[in-house]
Amino acid sequence: MSIYILGIESSCDDTAAAIIENDIIRSNITAGQEVHRNFGGVVPELASRAHQQNIIPVIQTAIKTANINKNQLSAVAFTRGPGLLGSLLVGTSFAKAFAMALQIPLIEVDHLQAHILAHFIRNENLTNPVPHFPFLCLTASGGHTQLVAVQDHFDMEIIGQTIDDAAGETFDKAAKIMGIPYPGGPVIDQLAMTGDPSRFKFSKPNIPGLDFSFSGLKTSILYFLRDRLKEDPDFIEKNKPDLCASIQSTIIDILMSKLKMASDATGICEIAIAGGVSANSFLRKSIEKAQKRWGWNIFIPPPGYTTDNASMIAVAGYFKYLKGDFTSQSVTPYARNIL
Ligand code: KG4
Ligand code: ZN
Repeated sequence: MSIYILGIESSCDDTAAAIIENDIIRSNITAGQEVHRNFGGVVPELASRAHQQNIIPVIQTAIKTANINKNQLSAVAFTRGPGLLGSLLVGTSFAKAFAMALQIPLIEVDHLQAHILAHFIRNENLTNPVPHFPFLCLTASGGHTQLVAVQDHFDMEIIGQTIDDAAGETFDKAAKIMGIPYPGGPVIDQLAMTGDPSRFKFSKPNIPGLDFSFSGLKTSILYFLRDRLKEDPDFIEKNKPDLCASIQSTIIDILMSKLKMASDATGICEIAIAGGVSANSFLRKSIEKAQKRWGWNIFIPPPGYTTDNASMIAVAGYFKYLKGDFTSQSVTPYARNIL
């Protein structure tokens, strides 16, 4: 008999719902929020309001696309945190009410664990290999940059993380300085394709161990551009592809060097990447090169499962359902990482 789980994701600025039948995705719906584009980042209050508008149509569409009836659902899985509290509250409240009305179990999912578990998503046309335990995962998104040693689906240890800004945030902030609308990461990736990554040099952090720091790089980009703009007000426009390529390669080099250190320190060569920044074409190429150079066995998520989505919540919910790991109706969301 099939197990059907509804996954709901609302931690930031995407309202998403997915249906999984056992470990196979049947629908994956995401409504993004255009409202943040001109603000250079996500505005929390606007995000919660947009989630409230989107959540019912998104869930209805997910159930319809999966071609099931809501009464066939076995459980409702939702992102409990970390994320924006107002945004999380919308998904959490809906999940609680829906599970109660249908008299089915409620399953809480940690957003960062879910990004990693996206590697276990299958759909009928997707025959990607899944990582074997233990593996290392570099999770890089707009809110987080972590190196995680994954022993089992829910046995994960953070062995390194950013002490200030996240990698995706650095892409977005650099983009904002260059007048590129939010989220700037994908635009920088695109513009960098025709640029020279060695044209401009930016300072790299000198942080011992497996932790990351990106705030110095952000400041170095800001001061560099401020000085150049004084000499030539059109400096950014004239050099955009080279600037994007140079900024991108600096961020990815920082990520890759810590990933290599983590692999050397743990002896683990089963390497995965996850989170929005894992969509970056230069990171994907760098990981492929590392596979050949260092004999890594690499796992790159399909593009649709890198940025926030509900399939990753549904697959995490499925694994928890198998363990009988359910959540009480008194659950409340958490804003910060509690792993
Ligand atoms: O995982 P995600 O959707 O949301 C969070 O949990 O934060 O990640 C969003 C982040 C944004 O900072 C966005 O600019 C970045 O991922 N991103 C990229 C690319 N696609 C998304 N950064 C660089 N290159 C990309 N292709
Ligand atoms: Zn995310």
